[in-house]
Amino acid sequence: MIDKIESLKKEIEKAVIEDENSLEQFRLKYLSRNGEIQNMFGLMGKVPKSERASVGKAMNEVKNLAKNKYETSKQKLSESVEATFSAKNDITLPVSPSYTGSLHPLTRTLNQIKQIFLRLGFSIADGPEIEDDFHNFTALNFPEDHPARDMQDTFFIRKSDHDEEQDLVLRTHTSPVQIRLLKEQDPPLRAIMPGRVYRNEAVTAKSYFQFNQVEGLYVDKRVTLGDLIETLVMFAKLMYGSDVKYRVRPSFFPFTEPSMEMDIWWGSEKEGKWLEILGAGMVDPNVFDAVGVDSEDFTGFAFGMGVDRICMLRYGINDIRTLYENDIRFLQQFK
Ligand code: DAH
Repeated sequence: MIDKIESLKKEIEKAVIEDENSLEQFRLKYLSRNGEIQNMFGLMGKVPKSERASVGKAMNEVKNLAKNKYETSKQKLSESVEATFSAKNDITLPVSPSYTGSLHPLTRTLNQIKQIFLRLGFSIADGPEIEDDFHNFTALNFPEDHPARDMQDTFFIRKSDHDEEQDLVLRTHTSPVQIRLLKEQDPPLRAIMPGRVYRNEAVTAKSYFQFNQVEGLYVDKRVTLGDLIETLVMFAKLMYGSDVKYRVRPSFFPFTEPSMEMDIWWGSEKEGKWLEILGAGMVDPNVFDAVGVDSEDFTGFAFGMGVDRICMLRYGINDIRTLYENDIRFLQQFK
């Protein structure tokens, strides 16, 4: 009897299970109700009493061996079936479409503005969004009581309650970067300074508490108003096409003298309107004095334009808030 059990054991050990079919064959042959193991247990009655314990033990071992082999083979087979047929690994399946990103309309507009000024010989500089009073106002020749310093427009960041002089602000324009540049670098210099600015204004379709500007500065010996206008006209033509209709009219900014604004005609010949796209002027000597540039020796021009406005015109966007909400349905239109 023990011999029989032993040879059955060897047979089971050698049995090859390589697919669903041989697995089922194995189960039928050894583990089913008419299988060899069950048969073997049926012969127990013929075993002499004294041997029953050891024979029973050997039979149970063989039974467990068969069971384990069956279970582990089944497990392995199902894993490899999964691996073969799961969509994840089927390299013949067509690739499912995936989202590709797109540049934000503001980024696109900014890129175009940068390209134009790089072509005109300007470099690119930047400065911090948190500014102090000196850079944002004082050095730019804002009088102490100028309304732009009012709480209405400026987001103040109080450094300490005891020290009001130390008030920091979220910059209200990119003009303070002019001051930083002039302090760091001796003229001649010619740069644009793009960046985000903040104003404490009511949020509507037309105004928002943050927006983007591109500042420009050109300082050298004998820079003239003619150079400024020439540069702005060149910009307008490269941005809006050579047949763009534009006008330049006088204005006021504390940091330029004289100051002006540029408008472009938007719409058709008959139906349209003038839209202001930038402010500009000749750098006020007081600004040069604040940063230690000799205003007898140097002159310069500066300008500042709103990127959001230019972007909205360009893409026909009529609500500035959509530029900042990051709604994927809005952004996907700009692929
Ligand atoms: N900083 C001005 C503003 O935010 C725009 C501006 C006007 C910038 C004239 C300039 C300039 O550099 O010369 O409204």
